Amino acid sequence: MSRTQNGVDHILSEMNEQIHVRKRHQMAPGYSGKDNPELESTMDVYIAKFVHLVRSRYLSTPYCAKSFDIGEKAQFLAVDVINAIGLGELLGDLDNDEDWFEYVKQMRIGLRINRILTSFGFTWRTPSGLGRVLRHCRVRIQERAKSGLREQSDMLTSFVRHGLTPEDLVHEVILQLIAGADTTSTAIRCVILHLLTHPPVYKKLQDEVDAAVAAGKAPTPPRIITAAEAKSLPYLQACIKESMRIHPPITSTFPKRVPDSGNTVIVDGKSVFLPPGTNVGYSVYALHRDRRTYGEDVDEFRPECWLLGKDQARLSAMNKTHDTTFGYGRYQCLGKPIAEMEISKAIFELMRNFDLSLARPENPWKQENVLGLFFHEDLLVHAVDRVQGATA
Ligand code: HEM
Repeated sequence: MSRTQNGVDHILSEMNEQIHVRKRHQMAPGYSGKDNPELESTMDVYIAKFVHLVRSRYLSTPYCAKSFDIGEKAQFLAVDVINAIGLGELLGDLDNDEDWFEYVKQMRIGLRINRILTSFGFTWRTPSGLGRVLRHCRVRIQERAKSGLREQSDMLTSFVRHGLTPEDLVHEVILQLIAGADTTSTAIRCVILHLLTHPPVYKKLQDEVDAAVAAGKAPTPPRIITAAEAKSLPYLQACIKESMRIHPPITSTFPKRVPDSGNTVIVDGKSVFLPPGTNVGYSVYALHRDRRTYGEDVDEFRPECWLLGKDQARLSAMNKTHDTTFGYGRYQCLGKPIAEMEISKAIFELMRNFDLSLARPENPWKQENVLGLFFHEDLLVHAVDRVQGATA
């Protein structure tokens, strides 16, 4: 991934192996929640706001249908969550039901500009776009530094405790927004779209959700399902993996450079020498549409394929391939547990609280891929309340 400022690396653009390893070491405790015990409860606050926003402003009734872009609300959720857990900031997209600080708008402008410039080998910051977001992060980090960063238990505090400098923090925080907010909200949108276009799957998942609630395997509202409880629901997890298989949330090839000694790898059983300096990337689409891994119906959305308990060898290959959605090995996404937690909680709570349907089935969303990230618009749905007596 390209830098957000000329000459300055964040962890994802860092090509010096030693620095990359050191940074991972410094940042992993903040990402894993080890240094940040309030990560899940903070996320729950925003999942609850997400549900509240739909319930308070967008419910349809038998007498009046109200369409709204649930993809936009998922984006607000992801931006609010990253800001809260990463920057310790209450941004308020969900509270205000708008792109409050124009993060989404500015980020999209910045990425669209960079799409053109990176083709010529440049990066550029505009006064709006990424430049504006960078400025905001810098100010916010300075404010936090003045108010005694070491006192709180969040990611920023953890990064400082493990030796990141204030300038490092600016670029790591902006990376979190770019790498974490669009990807996670895209994943939520993809699950929603695939559920809404496959009624038997939708019904089966809602049955699993209702059964979990009836059996006390999920807390009663307004409490939010825990990450551990959501992880134990096999069909929910199968629906999420299958949606991300059919539509990976990010499609960049994330090239890695072969070291100066060169490297020999095995491809289809044959030994292949890779010369020093070669860039090796991967196509996440191709990996997830490989018939040898997923079978003949690889192009179809079928969550049941993840529940083939009897074929452990195939399942293991599928799971390994699924992991590549988040990169591989020592480069793997640091935010994977956070993303998985957020997607699972958001989908569970939507299914528990609302009956959703597509408002424009003939044209369910507008999609654009910019530098591997997806921008979606107009995922218009109707939401009917399922919870008797719930109040907005
Ligand atoms: C569905 C959601 C997400 C997907 C699909 C995803 C995917 C990826 C991928 C493919 C990589 C690149 C691995 C490589 O270089 O080979 C990556 C790296 C990274 N992601 Fe994510 N990501 C997601 C969510 C998040 C979130 C929520 C955060 C932050 C809270 C985050 C933070 C990072 C960071 C810091 C790296 C750099 C890791 C490194 O270079 O060591 N990601 N992600």
